[in-house]
Amino acid sequence: MQADIAVLPGDGIGPEVTAVAVSVLKSVARRHGHQFEFGQHDIGGVAIDRHGDPLPPATLRACQQADAVLLGAVGGPKWSDPNARIRPEQGLLALRRGLGLYANLRPVRPHAAALNASPIKPHLLTGVDIMVVRELTGGIYFGDKTRDADSASDLCSYSVVEIERVVRSAFQLARQRRGYLVSVDKANVLETSRLWRDVTSRIGRDEFADVRLEHVLVDAMAMHLLSKPREFDVIVTENMFGDILTDEASMLAGSLGLLPSASLGDGKVGLYEPIHGSAPDIAGKGIANPYATILSCAMLLRHSLGLYEEADCIERAVDGALNAQAFTADLAGGARPLSTQAAGQAVIEQIQARC
Ligand code: NAI
Ligand code: MG
Repeated sequence: MQADIAVLPGDGIGPEVTAVAVSVLKSVARRHGHQFEFGQHDIGGVAIDRHGDPLPPATLRACQQADAVLLGAVGGPKWSDPNARIRPEQGLLALRRGLGLYANLRPVRPHAAALNASPIKPHLLTGVDIMVVRELTGGIYFGDKTRDADSASDLCSYSVVEIERVVRSAFQLARQRRGYLVSVDKANVLETSRLWRDVTSRIGRDEFADVRLEHVLVDAMAMHLLSKPREFDVIVTENMFGDILTDEASMLAGSLGLLPSASLGDGKVGLYEPIHGSAPDIAGKGIANPYATILSCAMLLRHSLGLYEEADCIERAVDGALNAQAFTADLAGGARPLSTQAAGQAVIEQIQARC
C-alpha cells in the first residue's frame, strides 16, 4: 500500500517522540512491503516563530490532502504569556476543527510490566481495558469568550447533531467491544448535559438496543475511575470532561507517556497523537517516553489505513519491549532508564522478531 502521512512534530518533546515513531512506521512498512511518504509541517509554537501563525494554511492544506496525520505536541513556556493574542494551542484546536475531527478515542489498557509505575494498587488494575471517547470540536473550548476588567465568561453549547455523531461512534465501539457504554455528564446542573443525556438515551433505545447504556455524573465518574476501573468498557463524554477524565485515567496506565489517541470524523483524514503535552521540563534531554506516540501509529494504521495486522504488530512489539523492561525514566523506578531513541530501537527489534 502507498500512503501519505503528514507529520507535525510541534514543540518540546514533540520532535523527539515523532522522530522515533516515524522510524517505527518505516520498519513496519519495510517488513510488510508498504510505501509510506512522510511530509513534515509546522504547527504550534514553532509555527508561530516561523510564520506568525500556529496553523499556517500550508500545514492545514497538507493535512487535508494526506491519508493521515501524526502529531507530537504543541506549546511551552516560550509562548505561554496569558495575554498573548496568538497561542500554540489555537493551532491544534483549528486543525481538529479544520479536519472535522469530532471523536477523540483514548484507549486505556495498563500494561502488566508497567503496573508498578501506577500510583493505584496493582490488584485494581489487572484486566482494565477502557476506551474513552471524548467529544472534540464543541462545548466550552469553542464557545464565545468575553473578558472585561471585572469578569470573564466562556460559553458552553452543544447542538443535537454534535452530540448524535460522537455518541453514535461510541455506541458502535461498544458494540464491537463488550457491549457496555457509560455516558458521562453533569445533568443535575447543566442544560447542555440534560440535552446530552436525552440524545444519548434516544440513540441507545432506537439504534443500539443491544448495548447496555448507563449515565454517570462526572464528579462520581472521577471517583469510580480510580475505585473500580475494571468495570468500564466504553465511556463517552463532552469535550472538557473528557480532557480531564483522560488525564486522570492515564494514571491507571502508569504514565502519560503510554497513552495514545486517535481523532476521527466523517472525512477520510484522522489525526493521531499521544495524549501528553510538550513536556518542557524534559524537552531536549532525549529521555521522553515514545510509546504513546508509537501506539498512536498503531491506531493510525488501523483506523486510517485499514492495516489491522500491522497495527497489531506494533502493539505486540510495544508489549514485548515493556515485558523486556525497556523502560524510559518515567517507568524505570530505580532501574537504569533507556533514552527515547533506545526505547524506539527496542520496539523496532521486537517488530523484526515478531512480525
Ligand atoms: P505535559 O503532558 O506536557 O507534562 C506533564 C508531566 O508529564 C510533565 O512532568 C512531563 O515531563 C511528563 N510527561 C509528559 N509526557 C511525557 C513523556 N512522553 N515521557 C515522559 N514524561 C512525560 O503537560 P503540561 O506540563 O501540563 O503542559 C506542558 C505544555 O504542553 C503546555 O504548554 C501545554 O499547553 C501543552 N500541552 C499540549 C498538549 C497537546 O499538544 N496535545 C496536551 C497537553 C498539554
Ligand atoms: Mg489535556
